[in-house]
Amino acid sequence: HENLKAFPENFLWGAASAAYQVEGAWDVDGKGVSNWDKFVRIPGKTFKGTNGDVAVDHYHRYKEDIALMAEMGMKTYRFSVAWARIFPNGSGEVNEKGLAFYNDLIDELLEHNIEPILTIYHWDLPQALQDKYGGWESREIVEDFRNYCITLYKAYGDRVKYWVSLNEQNIFTRLGYQTAMHPPGVKDDKLFYQVNHHASLANAVAIKEFRTYVPDGKIGPSFAYSPAYAATSKPEDILAAENAEELSNHWWMDVYAWGEYPKASWEYLERKGLAPQVEKGDFALLKEGKPDFMGVNYYQTTTFEKNPLDGVTMEGTFNTTGKKGTMEDTGIPGLFKTITNENLERTNWDWNIDPQGLRIGLRRITNRYGLPILISENGLGEYDKVEEDGTIQDGYRIEYIRTHLKAVQEAITDGVEMIGYCVWSFTDLLSWLNGFQKRYGFVYVNQHEEGEHDLRRIKKKSFYWYKEVIESNGENL
Ligand code: BG6
Repeated sequence: HENLKAFPENFLWGAASAAYQVEGAWDVDGKGVSNWDKFVRIPGKTFKGTNGDVAVDHYHRYKEDIALMAEMGMKTYRFSVAWARIFPNGSGEVNEKGLAFYNDLIDELLEHNIEPILTIYHWDLPQALQDKYGGWESREIVEDFRNYCITLYKAYGDRVKYWVSLNEQNIFTRLGYQTAMHPPGVKDDKLFYQVNHHASLANAVAIKEFRTYVPDGKIGPSFAYSPAYAATSKPEDILAAENAEELSNHWWMDVYAWGEYPKASWEYLERKGLAPQVEKGDFALLKEGKPDFMGVNYYQTTTFEKNPLDGVTMEGTFNTTGKKGTMEDTGIPGLFKTITNENLERTNWDWNIDPQGLRIGLRRITNRYGLPILISENGLGEYDKVEEDGTIQDGYRIEYIRTHLKAVQEAITDGVEMIGYCVWSFTDLLSWLNGFQKRYGFVYVNQHEEGEHDLRRIKKKSFYWYKEVIESNGENL
């Protein structure tokens, strides 16, 4: 590997989390109710009815968690702000105690020389806005989002220099409006594209305002990028993969980078009567929202083949069983259909393990958009076991992260400009639909659906390994 370029000197080695998945304290210190607080209470929605009321209690234990981050030598920590902590009703009066919490969290990070990366929106919408006008279903949200963003910029912009606008717009809208697995639990294709248009406008507004309030900062969205592969070299499968890359990836990234929808996808949606309603000035605004970097959440590639006109739809569900082989195929009739890629190993939740796919994806983004890239998430969700001696031997996680980091280094060698790499996640946390059985952390948290759950933190084998990776700036992968 002597031909590989080294990681940049100031590379941001880190880990990420999201408010709802770690904080708990769901109704503490004036916080309002979020869409997730409500959704998880509907019977049957999550694994054993798990919710984030307590999560891993990061709200009360952030100092302990940050001390562990410092012990590991982490350079950056990506966390999200719960909108309903700042504005319990989504708009209106600010909740000072909510502002104070993140203020303290940011100071604590800086004291430990950890660069904060703040995600403005990681899926927990104030329920009041869902009730008032349907949340993302209405253009009204753009102004409330603007106000929320400006509040955060004014409060934290002096110290926080890296910001993520929306986390995985493609996923929260897909699961919220196509598969109905996330709030608000709707299946409506037309609405799905409309909601996305509003979210893209909100994203652009967030970036536009950022230039005024945090002129020396950097901001970008985090896109859940699953690069498309073709199942075979049959031209119809290649076309299916092209269709998928365009409608499932470029549909968002082109809007972020260029303020434009990709042509063939737009024409297709127009023909089907599914294209979003666009108002005068929208495209001009979208073009003003050019990000400083593309945030990439990478977990896997997806492989496609031709889908007949009466074929499968996007309604299919993801594997939430934790048993391999229970993933359903999805697709758009006439355009594409997913298939299992037999060349790849899979996790127990049927997520492909494909480090090369990361290198491919990073190069595609670089070639198409020319933006620097922050890997805002990458990691392995698996069952972990505490051994008799109290250790957690998660060699499988080390192998996953090591091979993906190698792919990042290869991409750097290929000329990709990388800002940093955040592992999902630092501590174990609530996996939205899968409870605490599907774990991602370097730090085990004794939290379960049933039985003992004293929330104590235990460093996993991967903790010590990543510490060394950081210390050596990734030299010995
Ligand atoms: C990303 C999200 O989609 O994947 C995270 O940004 C999420 O919030 C992560 O937890 C892993 O997904 P899951 O379903 O395994 O928890």
